[in-house]
Amino acid sequence: MASSKSPKDFFRPLAVGAPTPVAEIPARPSRAIHFFDPSNPKMAAKVPDMVGTVDVLLGNLEDAVKADNKEAARNGLVEIAQATANIGGRSGPTQLWTRINALDSPWVLDDLTTLVPAIGDKLDVIMVPKVEGAEDIHYVDRILAQLEAKAGLSEPILVHAILETARGVANVEEICGASPRMQGLSLGPADLAADRRMKTTRVGGGHPGYLVRQDPVDGDIDGQRTSYQQDLWHYTVARMVDACAMHGIYPYYGPFGDIADTVACEDQFRNAFLLGCVGAWSLHPKQVAIAKKVFSPSVEDVTHAKRVVAAMGDGTGAVMLDGKMEDDASLKQCLVMVELADRLAAIDPDLKAAYDAIEVDA
Ligand code: GLV
Ligand code: MG
Repeated sequence: MASSKSPKDFFRPLAVGAPTPVAEIPARPSRAIHFFDPSNPKMAAKVPDMVGTVDVLLGNLEDAVKADNKEAARNGLVEIAQATANIGGRSGPTQLWTRINALDSPWVLDDLTTLVPAIGDKLDVIMVPKVEGAEDIHYVDRILAQLEAKAGLSEPILVHAILETARGVANVEEICGASPRMQGLSLGPADLAADRRMKTTRVGGGHPGYLVRQDPVDGDIDGQRTSYQQDLWHYTVARMVDACAMHGIYPYYGPFGDIADTVACEDQFRNAFLLGCVGAWSLHPKQVAIAKKVFSPSVEDVTHAKRVVAAMGDGTGAVMLDGKMEDDASLKQCLVMVELADRLAAIDPDLKAAYDAIEVDA
């Protein structure tokens, strides 16, 4: 553990009168974290209609908001949160998150001291960009406790870190374990690529030059040789997944900037889902649909999982199903799938109908 604090101290509020930290991060569906710029009236006007159609709405105050609009974005988020029924507030169909400005920016202090008193009861999660180590989370942890106490909040606001610097990746485990508020991590492929001096110029996604090529056939180096593009983000996402699982929090793919390329976006999101991520960012309503599809297990997968659960009886030993060996370990994988399906069915009537229609012989 990075800190020499007693484990018990993590569950004491960091300010007199602040809410008690949570012992477990609720597994709330968050397949798409839909970004909007609260200073953009066109985007802001769409927010009320999106409640109930997307798992998370995130008011973005950081990058992509012009310096001249920072204040308007912050105030716009307060207005939207106060005026929109059913948004955020630890229950309900759509969570409300925000991405504050970076901790070394001139705006972040005002972000926190404005948002927490005004809409702290509605803000479920605060996303902190460019987190480098546990010290960044400790700073946010304490100041949030002070502001929550002052505002008389009864529930703590959770914290989500974007992994977008080399130092952040190197410190990923200590970041995840830095506070009971830690809800999850997102990959920040654009900033991370720049910080690492990768030679990409895109926001997320692959690169045609990053590939492996088949060996020459019969020594003919000029002959036909298949090449396969590789996933630039595999290493980082895999590290995030392990760090998050170890700390009982949730990993997310971040942004995919090529809005028109819905096929590659779906592939990238699916890689993240299969590796263990629970959601991704959406930068356009089109991507909400992609994330909802990808991060909800298919009826075929849930059917198979339920068949294994039924066949495994008390959960011990091994059985043969369709010619394949199933045992305690494959049962556990199937239970992950069934639990996710149950959680999603509880908030998504279409999925509920699809999953409820599954029939499995006991
Ligand atoms: C997201 O913030 C990124 O830098 O990719
Ligand atoms: Mg970034």
